[in-house]
Amino acid sequence: MSTINYSEKIPNNVNLGEDRTLQRALEGWQPNFINWWDDVGPEGSTNHEVYLRTAVSVDPQGWAQFGHVKMRDYRWGIFLNPGDANREVHFGDHKGEKAWQDVPGEHRANLRRIIVTQGDTEPASVEQQRHLGLTAPSMYDLRNLFQINVEEGRHLWAMVYLLHKHFGRDGREEAEALLQRTSGDVDNPRILGAFNEKTPDWLAFFMFTYFTDRDGKFQLAALAESAFDPLARTTKFMLTEEAHHMFVGESGVSRVLARTAQVMNELKTDDPQKVRAAGAIDLPTIQRYLNFHYSVTIDLFGADQSSNAAIFYSSGLKGRYEEGKRTDDHVLKGQTYKVLEVKDGQLVEKDVPMLNALNEVLRDDFIKDSMAGVGRWNKVLEKAGIPTRLAVPHKAFNRQIGALAGIKMSPDGRVVNEIEWAAKRNEWLPSAEDFAFVASLMGRVVEPGKFAGWISPPVMGINRQPVDFEYVRFG
Ligand SMILES: [Fe+2]
Ligand SMILES: [Fe+2]
Repeated sequence: MSTINYSEKIPNNVNLGEDRTLQRALEGWQPNFINWWDDVGPEGSTNHEVYLRTAVSVDPQGWAQFGHVKMRDYRWGIFLNPGDANREVHFGDHKGEKAWQDVPGEHRANLRRIIVTQGDTEPASVEQQRHLGLTAPSMYDLRNLFQINVEEGRHLWAMVYLLHKHFGRDGREEAEALLQRTSGDVDNPRILGAFNEKTPDWLAFFMFTYFTDRDGKFQLAALAESAFDPLARTTKFMLTEEAHHMFVGESGVSRVLARTAQVMNELKTDDPQKVRAAGAIDLPTIQRYLNFHYSVTIDLFGADQSSNAAIFYSSGLKGRYEEGKRTDDHVLKGQTYKVLEVKDGQLVEKDVPMLNALNEVLRDDFIKDSMAGVGRWNKVLEKAGIPTRLAVPHKAFNRQIGALAGIKMSPDGRVVNEIEWAAKRNEWLPSAEDFAFVASLMGRVVEPGKFAGWISPPVMGINRQPVDFEYVRFG
């Protein structure tokens, strides 16, 4: 493993300096990236000095250093986990062959598509979150938002490096296009649906980082198994950063719940209107936000049956979550998996070839992981003596992709007709009125150690700093 050279324009541990052509190409892309950051990155943040961690090594102990930096000057770099010269492909038709250091011609189009699709989500989330800095509930939260934003920027760099290094002219064109699509743009939107949704307020942000960044975790984990070794190594390192994003979401929602429970106990009420009048977010609204972000996020895994998923797996491009820990044959031919389908207006289970159901396998792994955190949120309510519990909605609720898109389902798993759906929609998903209420709470609180009234302070600060540390210096 080479160390990271910070005197270079682009910090990296891939010996970029030894490949002048590639270095020049990436140095040519760099100013376009900065322009993109200035145009659609965090609004009004140019002069802030933010207490950020910057990756300086891929060593699990001490891979990052903390310090106040202007985000524009953040050292977005290229870091791959150390390689293993003897690594073998461990699933699919190429199982047992040596892992690939270059892209095999026959898999080029599919790999490019996988990398572009992953890469597209990274700048998309920065765009979705760009206004949130103006309404941060605290300086601590503002810092966490910016940390996520710069790291999503670095994840874009990670994918662009692969495109430039391994895909020639096509790769360079795709790298440009990644800066041209814009989240929510009618003419040139981001590739995946959830990444064109708005993240209008901080409750949405915490739900997004809990659920949608967790989709990122599962996609990255599946790519970390890839036979294409540079992709496996770069996604492994991205996962190190991703953990913090999900922490922000999980602890953020926990803190919202803690505050809501406190208000409910003080007022001895579970009346949403009274909770709202006291400036906290009522539990039904939190549940509706959860329903929305969960359902939009599970769509990201794609159609429940997909021949592409089978091809990606069999050709070694994308494995399963924790492929190496599974004890089956890692080829999966002749095996089956249960998926849901709509029959006579009802949901029924059916067995389909496992290889074609790998999107569903990954979605089910995601669902398990998501539910664990919802359980931890419920502990917050339980500890406060509040009997209400949050729950993830049924898998078929509010789906837009795959077989389940053809059905209307209540969150508790009842098939409903259009009339009932229309009547109950605002009980199940956030309404314009919910958004307006949550928006009304979003003021800007940025004095060190102060917090907006709808959220509790965190238990601890970042990097062992106190909660009232000056996480952002306003220039
Ligand atoms: Fe990311
Ligand atoms: Fe992330």
